[in-house]
Amino acid sequence: MSAIKIGFFGAGKMAEGILCAIADKSGVIMAEKVDARAEELTKKYGVITTEDVKTVAETAKTIFLAVRPQDMESVAAEVKPLLKPTQTLVSIVAGKTLAKLRKAFGAKVKLIRVMPNLALRANAGMCAICAAPNAKPVDVKLVQKILGGAGETVVLKEKDFDAVTALSGSGPAYFAYMEEAMTEGGIKLGLKPEVARLLAEQTMYGTAKFLRESGMALRPFIEGVCTKGGTTAAGMVKMDVPAFKQIVADTLAAAAARSAELA
Ligand SMILES: NC(=O)c1ccc[n+]([C@@H]2O[C@H](COP(=O)([O-])OP(=O)(O)OC[C@H]3O[C@@H](n4cnc5c(N)ncnc54)[C@H](OP(=O)(O)O)[C@@H]3O)[C@@H](O)[C@H]2O)c1
Repeated sequence: MSAIKIGFFGAGKMAEGILCAIADKSGVIMAEKVDARAEELTKKYGVITTEDVKTVAETAKTIFLAVRPQDMESVAAEVKPLLKPTQTLVSIVAGKTLAKLRKAFGAKVKLIRVMPNLALRANAGMCAICAAPNAKPVDVKLVQKILGGAGETVVLKEKDFDAVTALSGSGPAYFAYMEEAMTEGGIKLGLKPEVARLLAEQTMYGTAKFLRESGMALRPFIEGVCTKGGTTAAGMVKMDVPAFKQIVADTLAAAAARSAELA
C-alpha cells in the first residue's frame, strides 16, 4: 500500500466526485460517519475509510473538507490541534471564507478554498480555486492537478467567489431549468416526454461541447444558426428580448447576494 497522501473529511456526493478524479486511490483515506456509506466507497473504489476525522488529520497531507456547512465547526473542533504546517486543507464548503476557515482550523495548516459544482460527478466539473497567503504555488498546482481530473479549474481571488457561486456553483440548476422549459415546450408541440427530454438534453450538451471545442464567439454562432427567414430566427424573435437577459442577470445577482449573506 502506498503512503496516505489525500484525505477527506466527509464522503458524500461531492467527495465522491473528487475521488473519481484521483487515478491512484490507494493513497486515499476518507472519514465518513455513516457506516453504510463508508462500506459502499471501500467496496466501489478500494479506498480506506474511517469514522474518525482525527485519523485522516493524522495521516493525510492534502485534506478535502467536504462536509455540509453546519458540520464544519464540529469537525474543526476535533482536528484543529492535530493539523500541521506541512498539511493543506482544501475546503469545498459553500460560503465559508478563508478567514472563517482560518478561525476554525487554526493558523498552522495551509488553506485553499474551492467552489466546485455538481458536474464534478460527470468528470465535467467547474472548480474555482483561491488560496490563503500561507499556501504555496506548488500546493495550488497540486489541488489544480487533482481537481483537473474532474473537469476545469480556474484560480481566482476570493472576492470573486460570490459571483462564482452564483454562476458555476448554482449554474447546473439553471441549465437544468432551461432543459425543463425546452422539454415542456417540446411536449406542447406533441412530442413524447422522453423524446422531448432527449432532444433538449443532447442539444444542450452538444452545443456546449461544440462551443468549448471550437472556441467560437457566441454572437457569430447564434447569428450563424439564425438564417434569415428560417425557423431559428422565428424562434429567437420571442427569446431575444431584453426581459430574458434581465431575468438571467437578476437570477445570478440574487444567488450572489445570498452567497455574500452566508459568508
Ligand atoms: N452539492 C453541490 O452541488 C455543492 C456545490 C458546491 C459546494 N458544495 C459543498 O460541498 C460540501 C459537501 O456537499 P455534499 O453535497 O457532498 O454533502 P453530503 O452528500 O451531505 O456529504 C457530506 C457527508 O459528510 C458526512 N459528515 C458530516 N460530518 C461528519 C464528520 N464529523 N465525520 C465524518 N463524516 C461527516 C455526512 O454524514 P451525515 O449525512 O450523517 O451528516 C455526509 O455523508 C458542502 O459543504 C457544500 O456546501 C456542494
